[in-house]
Amino acid sequence: MGNNKIWQGNSTFILAAAGSAVGLGNIWKFPYMVGSNGGSAFVIIYLICIFAIGFPVMVSEILIGKYVRKSPINSLKKLSEEFKLNTNWKFLGILGALAGVTILSYYSVFAGMAFSYVFKIFPQSLENPSQYSSDYFLYLSSSPLNLVFWHTIFLFFTSIIVGLGVVRGIGRSVNVLMPFLFFFIILVSIYSSYIGDLEKTISFLFNPDFSVITPQIVISAMGQAFFSLSVGMGAIMAYGAYMPEKQMIGKTVLVIILLDTFVALAAGIAIFPIVFSNSSLQISAGPGLIFETLPVAFYSLPLGSIFSCIFFILITIAALSSSISLLEPFTAWIEETGKMNRISIVFFLSILIWILGLGSIFSFNIWSELKLFGLTFLGLLDYLTNNIMLPLGGFFVTVLIGWVLPKEFLKEHLKLTETFFYWFYLTLRFIAPSSIILIFLYSAF
Ligand code: TRP
Repeated sequence: MGNNKIWQGNSTFILAAAGSAVGLGNIWKFPYMVGSNGGSAFVIIYLICIFAIGFPVMVSEILIGKYVRKSPINSLKKLSEEFKLNTNWKFLGILGALAGVTILSYYSVFAGMAFSYVFKIFPQSLENPSQYSSDYFLYLSSSPLNLVFWHTIFLFFTSIIVGLGVVRGIGRSVNVLMPFLFFFIILVSIYSSYIGDLEKTISFLFNPDFSVITPQIVISAMGQAFFSLSVGMGAIMAYGAYMPEKQMIGKTVLVIILLDTFVALAAGIAIFPIVFSNSSLQISAGPGLIFETLPVAFYSLPLGSIFSCIFFILITIAALSSSISLLEPFTAWIEETGKMNRISIVFFLSILIWILGLGSIFSFNIWSELKLFGLTFLGLLDYLTNNIMLPLGGFFVTVLIGWVLPKEFLKEHLKLTETFFYWFYLTLRFIAPSSIILIFLYSAF
């Protein structure tokens, strides 16, 4: 990979990484997880995980990518050659690239569903909008053909952008999509807080009751932190390879994390006030929260159908800027072999991902009874990736950077102030890896 694949200026890297981070995880998953895990206590644990675990993992990933400037797999391989480490470190990259395509296979199904809601306008004067909404969701999810249609469209957009390349595809699209996303998510949350029950939302989000915390909630909060920041599988490492030489890693990561957290909270403020102000809606509705509940919530409001449409466009955009980062590590790796061009690589990978996605689609309908380890196919992929592969990837990255590589290397390449470095090194070496292990052990027994 030459230097022709470096983004110009500081903003493209920030927008691309924030684009990767901000996605379904923020707008769809975060609100429903907060809703079903007891509100603000979950939010606080989530925030702790973001800063104590997510921050060092993201810094480490970017550092590796930026230093070697290759795809995650080859970056890890080169790094271990240069520092004479065990060659097995490259498996960390392979695990990540596989996690990426696996996540994308179901991510695209949900993103496609969200996209379909952009075109769904509820008819006027319904007698029972809630019933209509759940009937519609059932109709959508029980038909494999419907879901396959939207899955295909979404995956097609993703592959076009990745196929166009790092600068022309990914770089250019995030520069257009992300400002639009930030602007409208703020607009929709202002609209909701104005029209819905803001007071209840604020106390739900920020007034913690720690007695509701269970080990399960802590595990979910950690999984959600990894997923939301896009760390643990090399997506951000792949982007690190395209970061301008002069850009500072520490500061940049701080900005990305703050943007990601901001959008998750803004999504909560966009959704909860309207749900709270409508007594027939349930805050703990689970994954159906934005699909079944939100259209009903918007239904009776002034300009509701317009805002509902904008909201689903936002989700689709957020998902698109994330899905490209799931495809990039694998693509970049094969591209480096020089045996195939980018377009063909993306084409073949997308076919594989598309087929894997069928399993998740069928989990909603014809395979809904099929259980492996008590989970549906979709549930199993979700569990394997978020609760096992990402934390494991994050653990090994912190071990590599914090314990295996020399401290001087970090000091030289991160250029942090003394105090900042001290805190960073503490979380990197001790807090992040030990919390991941502890949480793992807790969930296993
Ligand atoms: N962070 C994205 C979201 O919140 C999803 C995502 C994109 C992701 N790339 C990733 C998750 C890499 C884990 C790893 O929706």
